[in-house]
Amino acid sequence: MGKPVLLTMSGSLRKGSYNRMLIAEAVRAFGDADVMTGDLNLPLYDGDVEDEGMPASVQTLIDQVVRADALIIGAPEYNKGISGVLKNAIDWISRARPPVFKDKVAVILSAAGGRSGGETGHFMTHSILTQLQVHVVHGPLILVAAAQNEFDENGALTNDFLKKQIEARMTRLRELLG
Ligand SMILES: Cc1cc2nc3c(=O)[nH]c(=O)nc-3n(C[C@H](O)[C@H](O)[C@H](O)COP(=O)(O)O)c2cc1C
Repeated sequence: MGKPVLLTMSGSLRKGSYNRMLIAEAVRAFGDADVMTGDLNLPLYDGDVEDEGMPASVQTLIDQVVRADALIIGAPEYNKGISGVLKNAIDWISRARPPVFKDKVAVILSAAGGRSGGETGHFMTHSILTQLQVHVVHGPLILVAAAQNEFDENGALTNDFLKKQIEARMTRLRELLG
């Protein structure tokens, strides 16, 4: 097999997103790979729009999912749930025919301002992906609480415990991808 192909998907669109930083940390920990950055800035799902054909931005993301060996997902928590951006992207991708999520492997990571590290949003993301037959790599949930205190000025994680957790999960992902 050639280099593994990773697709990153951040449920937060903002440039300074802690979830983006967390994804970057995971990609670094994975090591050598072809990395695609998914753009989740998509139109809102609308069945009428879909009937006219997938919007180009959605089709691009679907094609990236097809190419990817694994998805690295940054799942923020908004009001104790999955972010609208991430849910909207998953909804669009789930409409691809043939289905493209089935049997993909995914790692989910969450960074949040709150003390629970976005656990509820993380769980919700996990449960939605499981329903779509995505294989989420198991292990202790990777949750960065009070994320504003956990990254340095270069966007790198400063917490050794979390760094080790991420390294272990990405090592496991590499093993699973063979
Ligand atoms: C609409 C909205 C709802 C939020 N709800 C929660 C929440 O339920 N739990 C939490 O820990 N943080 C919540 N936050 C704070 C986010 O965790 C924080 O803004 C975080 O930085 C978002 O992720 P990002 O840095 O990747 O953009 C919320 C933020 C927004 C904008």
